[in-house]
Amino acid sequence: MKLLKKSKFLIIGAGNMGISFIKALIQNGISSKNIFILEKKVSKELNKIKRNKKIIIKKSSSDLAENLRPDIVLLAVKPDQLNAALDEVLVSIIHNSLVISIIAGKKTSELKKLTKNPMSTVRAMTNTPVSLGMGTSIIYFDNKISRINRKLSKEFLGLVGQVNEVKNESLIDTFTAIFGSGPAYIFLLMEVLTKIALKSGLKNAHSMVIQTFLGSLLLLLSDKISPEVLRQRVTSKGGTTEAALKILSNPNGLQKLFDKAIAKAQKRSKQLSKN
Ligand SMILES: NC(=O)c1ccc[n+]([C@@H]2O[C@H](COP(=O)([O-])OP(=O)(O)OC[C@H]3O[C@@H](n4cnc5c(N)ncnc54)[C@H](OP(=O)(O)O)[C@@H]3O)[C@@H](O)[C@H]2O)c1
Repeated sequence: MKLLKKSKFLIIGAGNMGISFIKALIQNGISSKNIFILEKKVSKELNKIKRNKKIIIKKSSSDLAENLRPDIVLLAVKPDQLNAALDEVLVSIIHNSLVISIIAGKKTSELKKLTKNPMSTVRAMTNTPVSLGMGTSIIYFDNKISRINRKLSKEFLGLVGQVNEVKNESLIDTFTAIFGSGPAYIFLLMEVLTKIALKSGLKNAHSMVIQTFLGSLLLLLSDKISPEVLRQRVTSKGGTTEAALKILSNPNGLQKLFDKAIAKAQKRSKQLSKN
C-alpha cells in the first residue's frame, strides 16, 4: 500500500469497471490529484465523484498533459474499443507505466503489441463484485514483469477484492467461465428457488431466498469449515434435505450440469480471445 500511496494512476475507460477502481483508490486514501481518468462519455456517477473529489477527467488522449507519466495504468474499455483507445499520444504517455488490463479476451501478447510496452504490461481478469470491493481477480505475469511490478499489480487489484496469480495464461479462460460468470450462476440459483417458493404460495420468497444465501455464507465464514461438512451437517438421514440432495447429486445432477455449462463458457471465452 505504501507504494500505491505514492503512485500516479491513469484509468482508461470509466464505465462499470473503471468506476469501481476509481472509488477504491479514493476510499484507500489516494490523493485525487494523482488520479487521472480518460473517459469519452462522463456518466452522472463519474461527474458526482469529480465534483466531490476533484479527480481529473479528460475525454481524449490529446487533452492529457504530454508530460503526464502515470505509474499505473488500468485498461478498462470494452475489447473492441482498445485499438482505438491506444493511439499514438496515449502509447507515448504510458510507455514507462505498469499497464494492467482487465479486458476480456485480450491476450498478453496482443496487449503488449498495442501498448508498445512489453516489459510492463500485465493481464488480469475480475468480476462484478469489485464494485463493492468484494471482487475475485486473477492475474498473469509473463517472465518480463519485474518483481516490483508484480507486487504493485497485486496491490492495485487487491483494492477491489481478492487477487490470485496464475502461472498459465489459459487459466484466465477457466477463471472467466467459473468466476467471471459466477455471480450469474448464483443469481440463477436464487431465481430458481424464488420461483418454486412463489409457486408454492410463499409470498416473501425473494427476501427469504436472499436471507438464506446470506445466512449460509455467514455460517460458512464464521465456522471456518468446508461447504461439504456444513452440507453434511444439515442433511439428516432419511430427512427432507437428503431426499432433495439425492436428486441433485445423482450422476446426471448438478455436477454434470455445471461441468457441461462451464466447459461451454470456457470454450466461448477462448473463441472470443481469438476474434
Ligand atoms: N462488467 C464486468 O462484469 C466485467 C468483468 C471483468 C472484466 N470486464 C472487462 O472490463 C472492461 C470494461 O467493462 P465495463 O463493463 O466497465 O464496460 P463499460 O461500462 O462499457 O466501460 C467502458 C467505458 O470506456 C469508455 N471508452 C471507450 N473507448 C474509450 C476511449 N478511447 N477513451 C476513453 N474512454 C473510452 C466507454 O465509453 P462509451 O460508452 O462512450 O463507449 C465506456 O464508458 C471490458 O473490457 C470487460 O471485458 C468487465
